[in-house]
Amino acid sequence: MIKENISLKNFNTFNIDVQSRFFAEFCSIEELISLSKTDTFINNKKLIIGGGSNLLFTKDYSGLIIKPSNKEIVHKKETKNSICIKVGAGVVWDDFVNYCVEKEFGGIENLSLIPGNIGASAVQNIGAYGIEAKNIIKNVYAFNIETSEQIIINNKDCKFNYRESVFKNKYENKYIITNVEYILSKNNHIYNLNYGAIKEHLGKLEVNLKNIRNTIISIRKSKLPDPKLIGNAGSFFKNPYISKERLLNLQEKYPNIINYKIDKNTYKIAAGWLIEECGWKGKRYKDAGVYENQALVLINYGNNSGKNIVELSSKITLSVKEKFGISLNSEVKYI
Ligand code: EPU
Repeated sequence: MIKENISLKNFNTFNIDVQSRFFAEFCSIEELISLSKTDTFINNKKLIIGGGSNLLFTKDYSGLIIKPSNKEIVHKKETKNSICIKVGAGVVWDDFVNYCVEKEFGGIENLSLIPGNIGASAVQNIGAYGIEAKNIIKNVYAFNIETSEQIIINNKDCKFNYRESVFKNKYENKYIITNVEYILSKNNHIYNLNYGAIKEHLGKLEVNLKNIRNTIISIRKSKLPDPKLIGNAGSFFKNPYISKERLLNLQEKYPNIINYKIDKNTYKIAAGWLIEECGWKGKRYKDAGVYENQALVLINYGNNSGKNIVELSSKITLSVKEKFGISLNSEVKYI
């Protein structure tokens, strides 16, 4: 069950070819419980991975990598208007979105084609086109690494925020997410078409779940590189938040700065725009590069190590800081 010295090339979307000392998957809670009793589990540091679409490996990993591979999809409570579905952490995110859209369950369609697995949807509070996972997550089922206790954490206690949750903070390395429960609409769907060009792309098509999904897929495909063809991890940086006062100052010099109001005093700035303004879009640095259609995405032309990407990201961060005085934080986790 536990493999040794395996290449991680097929387990991270940057396609970085480093090795993990130990590697294990679990297909059920029973398998996870058995795994947690092994010496390898007890005596090594551990890293949980999903689709590997938010990780940047910079060297071999000397501990145990655990990949949840439980793939159950269970319909739980159902009413006339909504359904609660419990999903295994190992289900590929977009397979679940497709499953819901096929069955006419709404609320998830804007999150089509996001790479990664169900477990990461809760860790990362994935989001796109005006929707975040927190809008549809009801509960998260988690396994305590130290005590083997299984707990259910409700939406509020997950402390979701923009690409943030309790699993990236207080519970990091303490829990393994085994399942996530989502609430979806069965009819009277509330469509969210306000972000960017969705309406425009939909054109004369009927507004329904399938058409929204297909539209989002085509928008994403036009902007984001397919990790199967070229190594990348989607947005490399988070969009930074700044105060209204800072924004007003910046607007004097950069009237076109792309911003979104979060609240009275807080604005989100499009990091892709900042990076493009610094001249990085489409640039190559050694074996790494900035994607030509979306400057927020870093790509890996080689596959030996993440070092060039780390160097490139530092250069980008520095130039954005120098030009705009804004600090970029990476969405991708360095290992
Ligand atoms: N922009 C530029 N230049 C660029 C990229 C973007 O000027 O190189 C401008 C766009 O023209 C647009 C604005 O910045 O006016 C926002 O761009 P976009 O709609 O592409 O979204 P984003 O803010 O760059 C975020 C998410 C994406 C998600 C999209 C759509 C983050 C870190 N990224 O990107 O998520 O797909 O919105 O909702 O929040 C991911 O996390 O991996 C990811 C792809």
